[in-house]
Amino acid sequence: MRKPLVAGNWKMNSPDESCTKLLQKMLEKTHVIESMLKTMPNAEVDIALFPPSVYLKDTQEILSGSNLQWGSQNVSAYNEGAYTGEISAAMIKSFGCTYVLIGHSERRCLYEKLELDQHILDKIVAEKYCRSVKNGLTPIICIGESSDDYTSGKTEEIIARLLDILIEERGVKELAKTVLAYEPVWAIGTGESATPEWAQEVHSFIRQRIAKHDPETAESIRILYGGSVKEGNAPAIFAGPDVDGGLIGGASLDVEEFIHICFAAALKTG
Ligand code: PGA
Repeated sequence: MRKPLVAGNWKMNSPDESCTKLLQKMLEKTHVIESMLKTMPNAEVDIALFPPSVYLKDTQEILSGSNLQWGSQNVSAYNEGAYTGEISAAMIKSFGCTYVLIGHSERRCLYEKLELDQHILDKIVAEKYCRSVKNGLTPIICIGESSDDYTSGKTEEIIARLLDILIEERGVKELAKTVLAYEPVWAIGTGESATPEWAQEVHSFIRQRIAKHDPETAESIRILYGGSVKEGNAPAIFAGPDVDGGLIGGASLDVEEFIHICFAAALKTG
């Protein structure tokens, strides 16, 4: 059984209170969730927070020694050098990060404005994936279709294209060192989440595509759903047998709501 993961992507939001206060509140609340989980022998969940990078040092100081993990919202595709504004995988690792988000659609959009074609964008994602794994980070690789691609029935094509590039780049076994996140772009920050049935269908497609190369990797890899997950819809979305938790944006800034989402994920195994 795969251990569920809930990742809170704070994006560039300034919470009402400071980031450090929010981290402290999260920490207090996870103690509550831990004691609740102790009463359910099989329930378990990994929880990871993704604050803006300038808070990674605070995050490390506050969360070290706890069961909470953390990561960076982005990573450079390069090792080091004259890349103004970029942050390398080694630097991210030095702040105690476990994870790094790669290929989030909000970052892809920045590149799309430069009119780079999708294949080149997928290649950049693959380079960031390689760089992260080499530096001992677990990439959470986002995959998802735009609203136009969704309505024209291209979801599987878009997903297969990136998956194939990732597998080509480092082989299917290496993919087991990553987490995938299915994030339909039309559902991110819109309040319009995918239906639980749709999420499960796409997650199952991803797993089957990997299974064609290696059934073991397909069985072990965690696939998260992201896009307007809230306390109310989390239990139904997470009920999908191929849905292993969530990548949560807006709702991760509300401690109570985020903890309820984490609890819903933990119940998958409980
Ligand atoms: P959302 O964001 O939960 O606010 O839709 C999800 C994401 O961007 O990962």
